[in-house]
Amino acid sequence: MGKNIAVDGPAGAGKSTIAKKVAKNLGLIYVDTGAMYRAIGLYMLRNNIDVSDEEAVNQACDQISVSIQYVNGEQQVLLNGENVNGFIRKEEVGNMASKTSSYPKVRAMLLDAQKELAQKQNVIMDGRDIGTCVLPDAELKIYLTASVQTRAKRRFDELVEKGVECDITEIEKDIEQRDYQDMNRTIAPLKQAQDAVLVDSSNLTIEQVCETIINLYEER
Ligand code: C5P
Repeated sequence: MGKNIAVDGPAGAGKSTIAKKVAKNLGLIYVDTGAMYRAIGLYMLRNNIDVSDEEAVNQACDQISVSIQYVNGEQQVLLNGENVNGFIRKEEVGNMASKTSSYPKVRAMLLDAQKELAQKQNVIMDGRDIGTCVLPDAELKIYLTASVQTRAKRRFDELVEKGVECDITEIEKDIEQRDYQDMNRTIAPLKQAQDAVLVDSSNLTIEQVCETIINLYEER
């Protein structure tokens, strides 16, 4: 097992932005596990699968393969061989991902692939269950969070910048719902691992959060 970093936390805490920067600085490979769950959510959306029906989701899983490849240092998620990076960032895909990720079969499909990725190389991997399930022996575990208001505001600013019309109260509600689903499912719920360091980014800049993580890693 290499020297890996596990980063977990709720939606919109800034995990991917931070993890990408830290990866660059420390020469680690960044693995975004949420993208794998999103690929599964996308499949369900495209095929009109009723995600409240676990059996239907299980059957769909038999038609799905999800893998990851790196092209010029960028992670691409392949859904049955198709690079779906351009389709998985929408809120509706995130919500689908959150709903389907509560099913054992969906999680089992991705768990081994994620463990394997961390065995081949030193990674910084982000998600919801990295410190608790995927990489229980990670060198460093971070639980990155921020207040719901902060997370909603960041998401709002991001969308406004892209020219997308949106409503901050709606975003807040979406975030709260996703947090609830992710924290209250039976398998691999989102929670801080016992040995994880809690970082609340509400009043920190991206640079400050990165610096904190890099210093912790280098101390080990
Ligand atoms: O992090 P991101 O928002 O891309 O993740 C989408 C959804 O995938 C999460 O809301 C969560 O339900 C699920 N997920 C998970 N375990 C992970 C990563 C993501 O259950 N390790």
